[in-house]
Amino acid sequence: MQITLQRQPIEQVQTDALVLLVFQDRREDRLGLGELFDAGEIAGKPFEMTLLHNVPGMRAKRVLAVGAGKPGKFNAAELRRAVGAAIRHLKSKSITEAAIWLDAAQASADYAAAAVEGAILGDFETDRYKTDKKDTKTVERLTVAVAEGGPQLDAAVERGRIVAEAQNFARELANEPANRLTPMGLAEHAHRMAEEFGLEYEVLDRDRMAQLGMGSLLGVAIGSAEPPALIVLRYRPAAAPAGSVHLGLVGKGVTFDTGGISIKPADGMEKMKYDMAGGAATIGAMRALAQLKPAIPVTALIPAVENMPGSRAQRPGDIVTSLSGKTIEVINTDAEGRLILADALSYAQKLGCTHLVDAATLTGAIVVALGHINVGLFANDDALRERVMLAARAEGEKMWHMPLEDDYKDYLKSAFADMPNVGGRYGGAVTAAMFLKEFADPTPWVHLDIAGTAWLDDGKPFLAKGPTGVPLRTMVRLAMDWGGTGFSL
Ligand code: BES
Ligand code: MN
Ligand code: ZN
Repeated sequence: MQITLQRQPIEQVQTDALVLLVFQDRREDRLGLGELFDAGEIAGKPFEMTLLHNVPGMRAKRVLAVGAGKPGKFNAAELRRAVGAAIRHLKSKSITEAAIWLDAAQASADYAAAAVEGAILGDFETDRYKTDKKDTKTVERLTVAVAEGGPQLDAAVERGRIVAEAQNFARELANEPANRLTPMGLAEHAHRMAEEFGLEYEVLDRDRMAQLGMGSLLGVAIGSAEPPALIVLRYRPAAAPAGSVHLGLVGKGVTFDTGGISIKPADGMEKMKYDMAGGAATIGAMRALAQLKPAIPVTALIPAVENMPGSRAQRPGDIVTSLSGKTIEVINTDAEGRLILADALSYAQKLGCTHLVDAATLTGAIVVALGHINVGLFANDDALRERVMLAARAEGEKMWHMPLEDDYKDYLKSAFADMPNVGGRYGGAVTAAMFLKEFADPTPWVHLDIAGTAWLDDGKPFLAKGPTGVPLRTMVRLAMDWGGTGFSL
């Protein structure tokens, strides 16, 4: 999608479709819309669409009035969604060029970026392997139109493009089926991206991981004919960073999760191709950061494996030794995410990371607890938790703070090793996080369980069904805001 910013009066915008936000309980009397309000034909409810032709006095061929809900609830996140819905509506009418009008009150950097993001994210389709794409048009050109605004708007439009394209890149990866995206395949995607955008890239193969002693990660990998990969991407700021902060982003990269010997039921198992969505979001976040250049160093680690049953696969009862030296009794081979993350979290600290954020499709239990709305957020450090929460809120990625207390340790007792890889029947998302905490401590760390939010089973007005790219934008803003060069200034 080609994107430009234009400064001109609303009447002058030349486009196939001018998108204008209309609000609930706020009569819009421009562009002849007052009559439609009075008639009750437009109410301003979220995602309400009214397409008008030949509006007098307008150069635009059409005006699309998009409901944006109550003015008091309006923010950048609502704008992102409204624009996404508008773009998807226009696509469905085969309109492939549009302009988004931002009123003076909306002509801020965060709003301009959100509008661009909404359009690019809304345009995304999961039709890569459809040979007949005639039903899915893409919007080719988009104008962000404002009456006036300083150069910060140009920067914001560019920033929105970078972030949303990175998010679609992550969504494309998460949607790839496991026969087309193996652990080494994921590493190759990361490698090509790193070369294109100028990041340091390294991959640790099976031998290197064995040398280092990553028995927890390798135990999961052994059941698959596909070799594992620990992908490392590094961004270093040009100027020496002010403090000594070094952010580590860790993403679960299970390219397919059969459950292993503790095999999953057939029903719905095909969805386990997205068990690398955390890894994809992490690689995507680095793609954006390479271009946006935060003030702090950021290292991404993606442990990539395929969790398969087979004659070489690890068995329930097996005991592995992690990189940290702690031994783990593998009670359930389907709790593989925490096993690979354990070694990745230890290794991140060896690489000098001072703060850690992981993203993982870790537990079905978080879906039970929070549904498909909120990411489950666990933290061993209040200050880092607050930073992540603020970033998430600004980016419209909903997150809910979950408990992580020593009382839960009683749920993680093994008779034969330092700990088991699963707790009991209850609090499954918490015990998974408690397990990870053993490997993250004492480094400040936030764990994001995205099992319920990385994938949409049903499309939304503003987003196609399938991979969401969560929590890429939170990761990007967290890094950008750290060190004072950020979005939130
Ligand atoms: N990848 C799954 C978690 C998952 C579930 C992701 C649903 C997306 C949607 C994870 O590896 C897993 O299998 N977790 C088990 C843990 C259990 C064995 C303790 C689960 O949640 O059932
Ligand atoms: Mn599993
Ligand atoms: Zn899994």
